[in-house]
Amino acid sequence: MMIATSEPPSILTEHDAGDVADLYARCIDYFMLQDGEPATLADAIDLFRDVPKDKSSADQTIMGWRNENGLIAVGAILRDYPSDRVWYLGFMIVNPAVRGQGIGRAIHDAIEQWAVARGAEEMRLAVLEANDAAERFWRSLGYRELRRVGPDTFKLRSHHRVELCRPLSSNLAASLA
Ligand SMILES: CC(C)(COP(=O)(O)OP(=O)(O)OC[C@H]1O[C@@H](n2cnc3c(N)ncnc32)[C@H](O)[C@@H]1OP(=O)(O)O)[C@@H](O)C(=O)NCCC(=O)NCCS
Repeated sequence: MMIATSEPPSILTEHDAGDVADLYARCIDYFMLQDGEPATLADAIDLFRDVPKDKSSADQTIMGWRNENGLIAVGAILRDYPSDRVWYLGFMIVNPAVRGQGIGRAIHDAIEQWAVARGAEEMRLAVLEANDAAERFWRSLGYRELRRVGPDTFKLRSHHRVELCRPLSSNLAASLA
């Protein structure tokens, strides 16, 4: 998709939390599924602050993609977690108005290239078991199940999650050689 591939992502900081909150408000479908209630500004701020206890915010990069209507997607990537050269895609969301146009795939490719250039060899993420559409999306990008975790509480809901992993391009090329 033009927007995601021709426009480089910007690196977002907590100053962008208001824009993230606007995007989250448009993505109410996702937050009703995850939490059973709409996201708040505090959730947008948490995107920048919430990292596993042995990591710091400096280990995480939040990327954002914009069009003329504002922020259309964000992706959060954590380096070397849970171990060196494994990078964790903590969150990714696309405005529903522009889903199904290849933006999610293009964003994933951009994040993957960015991580490989910095030494990543494997990408991991966790998808809610209840989020069938996203699980199909990740599987279509080559992710495979590592394990199931949970249940964990998300505001009004409780979820098991499927942890998925994918070797990254240079590693993939090596394993096919
Ligand atoms: C999951 C999400 C990021 C995908 O973004 P997107 O821009 O709609 O995805 P794309 O248009 O790039 O689709 C890429 C591929 O995945 C497939 N795909 C996307 N959504 C799908 C769905 N709901 N069901 C089945 N396949 C799907 C597409 O068919 C496409 O395959 P193709 O390139 O071979 O045609 C987006 O739907 C989203 O933001 N969902 C809500 C938040 C969420 O669930 N995030 C993931 C948390 S783990």
